Amino acid sequence: MRVCVIGTGYVGLVTGACLAHIGHDVVGVDNNAAKVAQMQAGISPIVEPGLEAIMAGAMQAQRLAFTTDIGAGVRHGEVIFIAVGTPALPSGESDTRAVEAVARAIGIHLDGSYKVIVNKSTVPIGSGDWVRMLVSENAAPNVDFDVVSNPEFLREGSAVFDTFNPDRIVLGGSGRRAVALMKKLYEPITQRQVAAEAALPPVPVVVTDLASAEMIKYAANAFLATKISFINEVANICDRVGADVQQVALGMGLDSRIGGKFLQAGLGWGGSCFPKDVAALVHTACDYGYEAKLLAAAVAVNRSQRYLAIEKLRQALGILKGKTIGLLGLTFKPDTDDLRDAPALALAAECRRLGARVKAYDPTVRPERPPAGLEAGVADCPESLAAGCDALVLVTEWAEFRTLDYAGLARSMARALIVDGRNFLDPQILAAAGFTYVGIGKPGAKAAPAAPEKAAPVLAIAS
Ligand code: UDX
Repeated sequence: MRVCVIGTGYVGLVTGACLAHIGHDVVGVDNNAAKVAQMQAGISPIVEPGLEAIMAGAMQAQRLAFTTDIGAGVRHGEVIFIAVGTPALPSGESDTRAVEAVARAIGIHLDGSYKVIVNKSTVPIGSGDWVRMLVSENAAPNVDFDVVSNPEFLREGSAVFDTFNPDRIVLGGSGRRAVALMKKLYEPITQRQVAAEAALPPVPVVVTDLASAEMIKYAANAFLATKISFINEVANICDRVGADVQQVALGMGLDSRIGGKFLQAGLGWGGSCFPKDVAALVHTACDYGYEAKLLAAAVAVNRSQRYLAIEKLRQALGILKGKTIGLLGLTFKPDTDDLRDAPALALAAECRRLGARVKAYDPTVRPERPPAGLEAGVADCPESLAAGCDALVLVTEWAEFRTLDYAGLARSMARALIVDGRNFLDPQILAAAGFTYVGIGKPGAKAAPAAPEKAAPVLAIAS
């Protein structure tokens, strides 16, 4: 089928490349000419495992092209995906100006043949009808099209895998022809032709009305974010009563009604989806006269969780003014270069506000391109990060952090203290390397009181 994807950000580019890989003829449209030129050269603007290989294969087979010409894209596609950004405004409301501009442009360029217009962006509930109105207003009379909501559930870092192995596909809309076309579009995926495990049963397709499909996306993200805030709250209680949150999560998660995923306590959730989507749902509820108390609490727990590392540093180091804190990891999670709403950046800002010096190391952040607030503070390797630090805080669980030469790092630090903000490291290995180890919700691995001075590495008390 001929497909047009408008907006080649995370969702749009991955969707377009994966649809081309399964045999469709895809044109990706973006208004950023430099980005289009980069993609035309086969370079992915985002770090995403497997994406460039998929792009290369599809481009070689001439099934994937990129353009800045939205008219050409609209004329090409029988199915036209809207996958532009909907960032949060300070109020929490979604900024839907890009969706609006694209919907108008689609209307202008509709050529009379039947088209399915698909909302792939996470858009406020009711946007499907709004897009239909905007397209109609700008199109010639009697053009034939349907609008479908097809929310995206892919995770950064495993976006290609998630696209080929979804738990479900959600299609919202009343047009039978449109739903049938969408089912056909996804058939190679739903029939597991590109799945990691071909023996699995077909992927369930959930067909709903427009508003319910839009709500499914918000509700799923809000539930996952709340699940993490829940376990983080449990971790904070564990810290006080002497229980170990990882053992608690294991024991809880084996209950099939709860499930073990997304019960990893840490310094909270970030990224481009959870913060934005939970805020938008709270805002929508409020718009319709309902106060979403549970979701507001999930947001509040997440906000304070980011600063939990500071509380733990203070317990161990006393006053933070004049201390040097090294952050291991900056991205909001591993296997991505995404710094949007990353807990590490909030933590760095608060450390600075308290008068500490902050350094950071992240495998995807180059010292010559530091994020705002960390100018001259990005190290090019863990060794130069640790040198002279009073403490390290592991904020992102990059795999390579498991196998660092911690004994060497400890020797180079002013004090060998580590706050493991993702419960990622083995406390015993860290203790053997000379570190005082502090986890989240793991009081068995508590920090020893601050050593007044450090000449030799502080010996850890791991339990
Ligand atoms: C999320 C949803 O998972 C995905 O379905 C949706 O389409 C977009 O939003 P993503 O933002 O890529 O995906 O990351 P995800 O892996 O879900 O993690 C989100 C945040 O939660 C990260 O900051 C991560 O560190 C945190 N997290 C996740 C935890 O703190 N604990 C957990 O147990 C799981």
